[in-house]
Amino acid sequence: MRPVLPRFFGTRPILPMRPWLNQIHHSDCLSAMRRMPAASVNLVVTSPPYNLLNSSGNGMKNGRGGKWSRAALLLGKGYAAHDDCMPHDDYVAWQRECLREMLRVLTPDGAIFYNHKWRVQRGLLQDRADIMDGFPVRQIIIWQRSGGFNHNPGYFLPTYEVIYLIANPDFRLAPKAGGIGDVWRIRQDRGNPHPASFPVELARRAIAATTAEVVLDPFIGSGTTAVAALQEGRQYVGIDLSEEYCRLARARVADAAAALEPSPGEPPIPSALEVKAMLQGTAEPANSRQTAARR
Ligand SMILES: C[S@@+](CC[C@H](N)C(=O)[O-])C[C@H]1O[C@@H](n2cnc3c(N)ncnc32)[C@H](O)[C@@H]1O
Repeated sequence: MRPVLPRFFGTRPILPMRPWLNQIHHSDCLSAMRRMPAASVNLVVTSPPYNLLNSSGNGMKNGRGGKWSRAALLLGKGYAAHDDCMPHDDYVAWQRECLREMLRVLTPDGAIFYNHKWRVQRGLLQDRADIMDGFPVRQIIIWQRSGGFNHNPGYFLPTYEVIYLIANPDFRLAPKAGGIGDVWRIRQDRGNPHPASFPVELARRAIAATTAEVVLDPFIGSGTTAVAALQEGRQYVGIDLSEEYCRLARARVADAAAALEPSPGEPPIPSALEVKAMLQGTAEPANSRQTAARR
């Protein structure tokens, strides 16, 4: 398979970032991000562990079985390399440190799409305000997923998660992207062996709504954000603590890259961002590119 060579639109590659780009890094995300240059990525799309295993329950009973299945999370096994069961205050402090590091590596026009889930503890709603306190949250997007089962008579069936849009001051959406609205109806991911993957469409929608060139996911899991970045013609940096998930992510990325490869003699299909760059006269001719998304 020929390598996919994403390219930059408008600005130059950040040279110290070269070793990081278009790789899935097996690492703790804090130690990895601390080694990355400041202001080196334009966008973060991520979903951290939710720390749900010490939850007293909020109807999240939708497991289906399997090695890394959602059931594994719900049955107390956690992720392959993280038990998802930290004392709450430690968890909040950890996530705040992760967010601070994401903001450090983000450019002044960058933003973070931070997917999380509210939960009920001892009958009371616990939103994630304690994690978000003081961060520049610009908007909350509702990800309306399909249902599941609710065995708890005290609650309505939860059908949404939230995506905090944490934005640096110069962040702007791509032209016309604002019309998408702040409720995203996207079915939850299916058939992914990772226990808590979000759908490629979710990551794609976030990425396509921006003009970001380099997209970071410090909790990349099965590689969804990297697949979405490839499909949108952007570069990615993926990090995960689990070597097993890193292997899964690399395999998914390789499959996605192969699917984007033009057949011999077939011109590549440009992504929306490439078409825009071509129309503005800032892009190279289409046949010099490898990163076309099939839409
Ligand atoms: C909610 S899942 C992300 C799933 C991903 N969005 C996908 O679509 O596959 C959270 C991930 O964080 C990873 N993780 C947990 N602790 C971590 C750490 N300290 N550094 C990096 N990754 C970590 C877990 O292994 C898990 O894959």
